[in-house]
Amino acid sequence: MNDFESLKALIAPPAWKIGNSFHFFDSVASTNDLLKNSIPTRNLSEGAIFIADEQTTGKGRSGRVWDSPPGVGLWMSMLFEPTFSMEQYFLINIMTAVSVYEALKHAGLRPLLKWPNDVMIGRKKICGILLESITLSDRKFIVVGVGMNINTSFFPDSLQQTATSLFLETQSVWSRKNILEDFLQRINYFYENLDRSIIKIWKSKNTILHHPIQVMTNDTTYAAVATDMADDGALLVESGGKLEKIYAADVSIKFEG
Ligand code: BTN
Repeated sequence: MNDFESLKALIAPPAWKIGNSFHFFDSVASTNDLLKNSIPTRNLSEGAIFIADEQTTGKGRSGRVWDSPPGVGLWMSMLFEPTFSMEQYFLINIMTAVSVYEALKHAGLRPLLKWPNDVMIGRKKICGILLESITLSDRKFIVVGVGMNINTSFFPDSLQQTATSLFLETQSVWSRKNILEDFLQRINYFYENLDRSIIKIWKSKNTILHHPIQVMTNDTTYAAVATDMADDGALLVESGGKLEKIYAADVSIKFEG
């Protein structure tokens, strides 16, 4: 059963800033790209959300493809026009991950957060977040793409070891509308009160800090221990007796055994 029609029936309470206008699409290349391109043409403002039932070329981080088949996921992009400085944009990243974490926890899962913005169940990713910033005239926007695997019952071979879904974790089919509603309630709460206290909340739910990790940059892979998240969102790691600040990399946890 495809519940996209009932998803379209979602009515945002007037108090919600994020979700003040919904735009639904059966199939798009990427909701992030479509939202970015539509800011001037549809005269969009902060709070607009684009949701697709399917993405034909969903974008992941580092140029990867995000598998987005029809009927089973929340493939969505939200528009922010923050009043704070660019150095603080990573707070939106963290706030989004924490909101996904809480919605999934409410659904009975035991998620964990992995820097920079993955939501994991054990070693497998259940949700990815992709932030893109865009400047139009003198206005600065952030497009936050969220890909949440909800009712996916199987993944392609290449993802089977690394991806999971709410359905696979619980053996139950979930209403995408309910999960979206729960997520939006939380993100609106955090956004209204957004400050650095979200960093502390993120730290309390993460799998990385104080663990041995593998850091993969474009040109190298090395072992390190994650020590903290810096005030600017970078991951602080210790490797070979040296402290380093990482801004862009993939990290994986080194599990025992
Ligand atoms: C990641 O690699 O972890 C980020 C994945 C982000 C996927 C979402 S799905 C909705 C939005 N549109 C896209 O093309 N990508 C993001």
